[in-house]
Amino acid sequence: MSTYSSEIKRVTTHTLQEMKNRGEKIAMLTAYDFSLAKLVDEGGIDAILVGDSASNVMAGHETTLPITLDQMIYHATSVVKGVKRALVVVDLPFGTYQGNSKEALRSAIRIMKESGAHAIKMEGGEEIKDSIIRILSAGIPVMGHLGLTPQSIYKFGTYVVRAKEEEEAQRLIDDAQMLSEIGCFGIVLEKIPATLATQVTNIVKAPTIGIGAGQGTDGQILVLHDMLGINQEFKPRFLRRYADLATIIKDGVGNYVKDVRKLDFPNEKEQY
Ligand code: KIV
Repeated sequence: MSTYSSEIKRVTTHTLQEMKNRGEKIAMLTAYDFSLAKLVDEGGIDAILVGDSASNVMAGHETTLPITLDQMIYHATSVVKGVKRALVVVDLPFGTYQGNSKEALRSAIRIMKESGAHAIKMEGGEEIKDSIIRILSAGIPVMGHLGLTPQSIYKFGTYVVRAKEEEEAQRLIDDAQMLSEIGCFGIVLEKIPATLATQVTNIVKAPTIGIGAGQGTDGQILVLHDMLGINQEFKPRFLRRYADLATIIKDGVGNYVKDVRKLDFPNEKEQY
């Protein structure tokens, strides 16, 4: 049953904070286009991330690095058109914010102005603090992202669990505290030990949203195409599949091909 109704109250960054304060879990998914964003919104999701995972999922790149600001704005614009209730958060893509806080602000403003999205997300901690502060001071809500940050994949060299060692775990705790204190409205914690994610969640004011971070976070996020089983190759331990759309789509296409070949489609009722 859909939780969508005609009286739609928009989810805001404040709604997410209230949910954390009440101990109510936050459900977040990615989306990259109008049609699926509309369905995800109507399914009752709290927040949608127009993730730079669009680079993998939509464009077929191996990493999130190649996607451009223009491409993110294109995806975000399509998602915003399909959404009536959920908060729409957009990733600032690699290379548009890391080195220079003025450029970071310009990138964030372009996303907000051109797509109509409600917030942006950025990967990293202390090293991007200046950029985050500048963006926040322009009134743009920022979500942080710590742990396995895919834009740094060539620094990590692998997609294994992060912050298992004490030094990296302590740095992550410090970064999370800093992000929350400067005013980030949420923090994604990706692929870190569940005990660490719970510890961070209990320390920081901002809601934490986990992916591969256990059930102690304030909310969860998954990539839509992974959890619906459209993308079948990606099988990490943290992923639960809620549908097998790849099979449904391939069966549907196969049946259509058969019907066309044997002149079963279109039939008399399907013509003018
Ligand atoms: O780009 C993305 O989809 C993300 C989520 C995995 C958190 O950053």
